[in-house]
Amino acid sequence: MYRYDTHDQTLVDERVAQFRDQMRRYLEGKISDEEFLPLRVQNGLYVQRYAPMLRIAIPYGMLAAYQLRKLGEIAARYDRGYGHFTTRTNLQLNWPKMEDVPDILADLASVQMHAIQTSGNDIRNTSTDQFSGIAADEQVDPRPWCELIRQWSTFHPEFAYLPRKFKIAVTGAEEDRAAIQVHDVGLRFWRDDAGEVRVKVLAGGGLGRTPMIGNTVCEDLPWQHLLTYLEAILRVYNQFGRRDNKFKARIKILVKALGIDEFRRRVEEEWAHLKDGPQTLTDEAVAAVADHFVDPERREIGTEAIEAYETLRADNRAFGRFVTNNVTDHKVPGYKAVTLSLKRREHSPGDVTSEQMAAIADLADEFSYGELRVTHEQNLVLTDVAVDRIEELWQRLDELGLANPTVGTLADLICCPGGDYCSLANAKSIPVAQSIQERFEDLDFLYDLGPLELNISGCMNACGHHHVGHIGILGVDKKGEEYYQISLGGSQGNESSLGKILGPSFYREDVPGVIDKLLQVYVGERTPDETFLDTYRRIGLKPFKERVYA
Ligand code: HEM
Ligand code: SF4
Repeated sequence: MYRYDTHDQTLVDERVAQFRDQMRRYLEGKISDEEFLPLRVQNGLYVQRYAPMLRIAIPYGMLAAYQLRKLGEIAARYDRGYGHFTTRTNLQLNWPKMEDVPDILADLASVQMHAIQTSGNDIRNTSTDQFSGIAADEQVDPRPWCELIRQWSTFHPEFAYLPRKFKIAVTGAEEDRAAIQVHDVGLRFWRDDAGEVRVKVLAGGGLGRTPMIGNTVCEDLPWQHLLTYLEAILRVYNQFGRRDNKFKARIKILVKALGIDEFRRRVEEEWAHLKDGPQTLTDEAVAAVADHFVDPERREIGTEAIEAYETLRADNRAFGRFVTNNVTDHKVPGYKAVTLSLKRREHSPGDVTSEQMAAIADLADEFSYGELRVTHEQNLVLTDVAVDRIEELWQRLDELGLANPTVGTLADLICCPGGDYCSLANAKSIPVAQSIQERFEDLDFLYDLGPLELNISGCMNACGHHHVGHIGILGVDKKGEEYYQISLGGSQGNESSLGKILGPSFYREDVPGVIDKLLQVYVGERTPDETFLDTYRRIGLKPFKERVYA
């Protein structure tokens, strides 16, 4: 876990004081709404449908138990006792009072947290693989690189007013769990034959109004040049990105307009001025950051304990289910990562109460060396659990309502806040999520369906990643009425694809029935071991369409 040094702490503390003064002057009427807007958004403060919303950064999804505990306290003290984990691994508070925000930021600073650049047209919170540092398929641990990007991007004087927001995702594993192909910049760290770290750089991916898969700008950038190369990309974007039209301002539009070859040429031209300059990374600079990410002193787990765990898993059906879906292999034998599902019918996906935050923090201390991760699927992960303690953890999670054994199934859907909270929404999304969860709660059925990603957004901004859901649901507005458009075949990961629209949209109450028909087509058509996505890719949209609109 990265710990702030005095520079980090001073910067964050000074920012709190600065914002406190800005807020005071705003509340006294000395700053207009218009003047206040850029000041508040760069501190994560939105003005939303019913109340302000504060978005708190969780850099690359890493969270210490003491930080989660503090987040729970903040949610209880200043909000309605819960928070919402988002697809960018941030935590949102939906009901803070405007005048309390400086105090909230001060509380966050006390645990090395902030809300800086979680909004605005700047470089946003960098996200990564939730299993970074422990994944068995990892070639390079992305965390130090993410931290270097964080230090470079936070308060970067040149990139505070970009044409539009800018999002970077990083992976160092064989399997991309960070959706790098649908980010403004995606970075894949890998090792060449000599064992040297290299970086594949993608640019121009993104969801929202014009969804696009990113293009490769550079296959094999030597790590020393990470920051100078990123700087060159940002400069090209800052200079040539469109500022005349908000809807055409993202880097994906620029990359498309120029073509990837011309875009690359401009980046390389810009890079020529920066390459080997002062921001070039050295072994010492990287080591100084990497030193923060030391492995915990894990107790040794013997083969007997591992065998006992496997036996228990086979004998206890309910526990076995939990393990199959929520427990992931770890690079160290005898250890596992355990995913806590934040998808329960009675709560919005991603919501956690203050009491649960406190309890989860305790579990992280007790079972996982005080560390957690937030996933872009809106779940939490305990990264280092010894196999001889998983059953106990499972029971404790069950008491908290967090042991839903459905991670990766249809019930683990992603959902944005939609019309219940978001002022940009065309339709509600949470009730759709709930009606689907209600309809498909039979565990045997969910298991039989296998891996299935269903993603819901309340408008075309695509905060719920509907374009990359195997089944995507998008809220649309037609003459003031809410409808839902369904798309199929989207996917994240190594072979990212954008979903195709099935046809005319549906009333909300019809959505679960439509999903049911889609599943029936899949179950009828699949070959053994074929996932929903495989079947869709083999048979295409037509059979699904025929069934649904029959
Ligand atoms: C205050 C509420 C929110 C507002 C005003 C908002 C606004 C937007 C807008 C305007 C876009 C479209 C960007 C574009 O096309 O250029 C967008 C995309 C996105 N938002 Fe939100 N959003 C909100 C809440 C959320 C939440 C709750 C999440 C996570 C659950 C989220 C995560 C994302 C993601 C991942 C994208 C994807 C598109 C991309 O970056 O290419 N946002 N949002
Ligand atoms: S997708 Fe639309 S409705 Fe949902 S959170 Fe984003 S902006 Fe709001």
